[in-house]
Amino acid sequence: MENEVLKAIRNRRSTRKYKDEQIGEEELQTILDAGIQAPSANNLQPWHFTVIQDKEMINFISDKSKEVMIQNDNERIVNIGKSSTNIFYNAPTVIMVSGEEEVSSSLVDCSAAIENMLIACESIGLGAVWIGLVRFFFTLNDEVKKLELPNGYKPFYAVAIGYKTNDNILGISKRNRDVINYIR
Ligand SMILES: Cc1cc2nc3c(=O)[nH]c(=O)nc-3n(C[C@H](O)[C@H](O)[C@H](O)COP(=O)(O)O)c2cc1C
Repeated sequence: MENEVLKAIRNRRSTRKYKDEQIGEEELQTILDAGIQAPSANNLQPWHFTVIQDKEMINFISDKSKEVMIQNDNERIVNIGKSSTNIFYNAPTVIMVSGEEEVSSSLVDCSAAIENMLIACESIGLGAVWIGLVRFFFTLNDEVKKLELPNGYKPFYAVAIGYKTNDNILGISKRNRDVINYIR
C-alpha cells in the first residue's frame, strides 16, 4: 500500500548535510506540533522542546559534547570527539527534547515525539537527524542550565533540522526484514 504518510515513513533518512538557510517559522511550528501530537502513556505528555536557532549556541553545545567525548573509554567516541565534525552537522535548527523526571515513561514518550517530528520533516521536504551524541553535553550540569529547562525536566536527545542540500549523502537504508514472527 502507498499513501503520503507511508511515503514519508519509507523515504525518511537521516540527513547529515544542510543548507545554511534557516527553516521557516511555519515549518518549525508544524514540526513541533507533530511532536506534541505523539502518543504518551496515560496521555501525560511529559515532554519539553527547546528550539535552538542561535548558531553560536549550537556550535557551543557541539564543542562541549566533543570535549567530553575525548575523555571516553570507547575509541570510536574519542575519534568523533577529535574530528572536525559538528555533532549537529551544522544544521540551522536544533530541537532538544527533554522529559519529566518523575514520569517513568518519559524517555519512551519523548522518543515517540522525536519520531513524529522526523517523519513530519520528511513530509514537508526538510532534512533531520536524531542526535544521541548530545548526551555527552548533558553530563555537564552547569552548561545544561543554559537550556533553561523547566524544573524537573531532564534532556534526552536532540533533533537537528534544516533544508537538505542537493548533494546529500543519505545514510544506508538497508533494513533487516528477518525481525517478524507470526502467531495466528
Ligand atoms: C537513539 C538514536 C540516537 C542517534 N544518534 C545519532 C547521532 O548522534 N548522530 C547521528 O549522526 N545519527 C544518530 N542517529 C541516527 C541513526 O544513526 C540512524 O537513524 C540509523 O543509522 C538509520 O539510518 P536512517 O535514519 O537514515 O534510516 C540516532 C538514532 C537514534 C534512534
